[in-house]
Amino acid sequence: MEAVKVGLLGLGTVGGGTVNVLTRNAAEIARRAGRGIRITQAAAREYNAEAISGLEQIEVTDDAFAVVNNPEIEIVIELIGGYSPARELVLQAIENGKHVVTANKALIAMHGNEIFAAAQAKGVTVAFEAAVAGGIPIIKAIREGLAANRIEWLAGIINGTGNFILSEMRDKGRDFEDVLAEAQALGYAEADPTFDVEGIDAAHKLTILSSIAFGIPLQFDKTYTEGITRIERQDVAFAGELGYRIKHLGIARKTDKGIEMRVHPTLIPERRLIANVDGVMNAVLVKGDAVGPTLYYGAGAGAEPTASAVVADVVDVVRALTTDPENRVPHLAFQPNKLSDLPILGMADVETSYYLRMQVADKLGVMAEITRILADCGISIEAIKQKEPAEGDPQVSLIMLTHEVLERRMNEAIARIEALPSVTGPVMRIRMETLEG
Ligand code: HSE
Repeated sequence: MEAVKVGLLGLGTVGGGTVNVLTRNAAEIARRAGRGIRITQAAAREYNAEAISGLEQIEVTDDAFAVVNNPEIEIVIELIGGYSPARELVLQAIENGKHVVTANKALIAMHGNEIFAAAQAKGVTVAFEAAVAGGIPIIKAIREGLAANRIEWLAGIINGTGNFILSEMRDKGRDFEDVLAEAQALGYAEADPTFDVEGIDAAHKLTILSSIAFGIPLQFDKTYTEGITRIERQDVAFAGELGYRIKHLGIARKTDKGIEMRVHPTLIPERRLIANVDGVMNAVLVKGDAVGPTLYYGAGAGAEPTASAVVADVVDVVRALTTDPENRVPHLAFQPNKLSDLPILGMADVETSYYLRMQVADKLGVMAEITRILADCGISIEAIKQKEPAEGDPQVSLIMLTHEVLERRMNEAIARIEALPSVTGPVMRIRMETLEG
C-alpha cells in the first residue's frame, strides 16, 4: 500500500527531531502502522539542514498554508507553536479534511474547544500527545489506560525547563539566569522563556490534563498560575532541612465543591518518588479510584523525546484512517456531548498546608504576636524553626510549616503578619502537598 503523505509545519528543535525519528525508524514504524509514513512537504523559514537527516526527500516551502492546502497530504503535523497562525493553520487543515498532530499546548489549552468541535464536525482526528510532558504518553495513559477510573487528583512536574533550573540551583548552587540560558541552548525552553519560568507553559499542560481527567471543557483562564522566579536559594535550603523538596507542580483535584486547577511551587516530602525527579525530566502522579496512585516518568522536553510522542500520534492516526469517525477515541477522553460544567474553584477556596518564611526582629514577644494571628485565623502550626541571626544582625529568619487551611484564611493571616512593625518585608509562602496515595 502507498505510504501516507504527511505535511510538517516547523523544522525547529521538535520538527527536526520528528524528521530524524521518522527517517531512522521508518521500517519499524511502517510495521507498527501498517503503512509507510512519508513527510513529503514541510514549511519553515529557518532550519538547520545539517542536523536533519532525510531532508532531501522533502519539499521545503516558507508558505505554511501551501502545506495545509496541499491535496496530496492526509496528515498535518503542526510544530510551529504559539496561538497564531497555528490556530488558523490547524482550522484550515481540518476544513480541508486532514488529520492533525500537534505538540502545541498553548494552542490546545486556549483554542482546543473550538478545534475539537471543528474536527468532530469533519470526522477528523486532532492528536496532541506531545503537548503534555514531552515523551511521556500521559494523554494516552489517562484517556485510555485509566478509562475505568474516576480520577481523584493528579500532580505533575510538567515543565522541563523549570525543573532543570530548580534542580541545578539546588544541587550545584548555580544562578537562575545561567541555568535558564543553558535550557534555551539545549532547546528545552519556549520561544518566550517567561512561559516556562512564570508557569504559563505548565498551566497550558495542566488545563489539558484536567479536561482529560475530569471530562470538563478546556478552561485555561481559570487555572491559577504562579512561577518559580520568587523562589530563593535559602527557601530551597530551608525546605531541605525540614525534609522537603520544592518542585514546580501542576495540581488538579476533584473536590465536593468543584475542580482545583493550580500551578505553583510546592513543598513535597523528599521521600516521595516525584520529589526526586530532577533536571529536564517530567513526572505525573495520577490517582484513580480503582487503580490507586500511578506515576509516569520521562523526558519532558527536547527534540527526540517530544518527537517520540509526535510520531506515536501519527502512527495512531494512520492506524485509524479506515475506522468509523464516529467511534474514534474522543479528543478529551469523554464524549463531546457529555462534558460536565463542574465549577473550577478559585484559589481562596483551596485548602493546603504552607511553608512560611519571614524576617522578624530578634526580640521578646514577636513570636507570640505571630502565633496569636495564626491562631485567630484558625491556622495550626506543624513546625517552627528560627535561624540564628548573623553576628550583630537584629533580624532573624523564622520558618513555619502549618497544617491545612483555606487559602482565604492564610491570605488574611499573612496580611496581618506583614503589617506588624516587628516583621520586615513580605512573608514568603509556598504551598505544601503530601501527595499521599
Ligand atoms: N518548554 C517546555 C518545557 C517544552 O520546558 O517543558 C516542552 O513542552
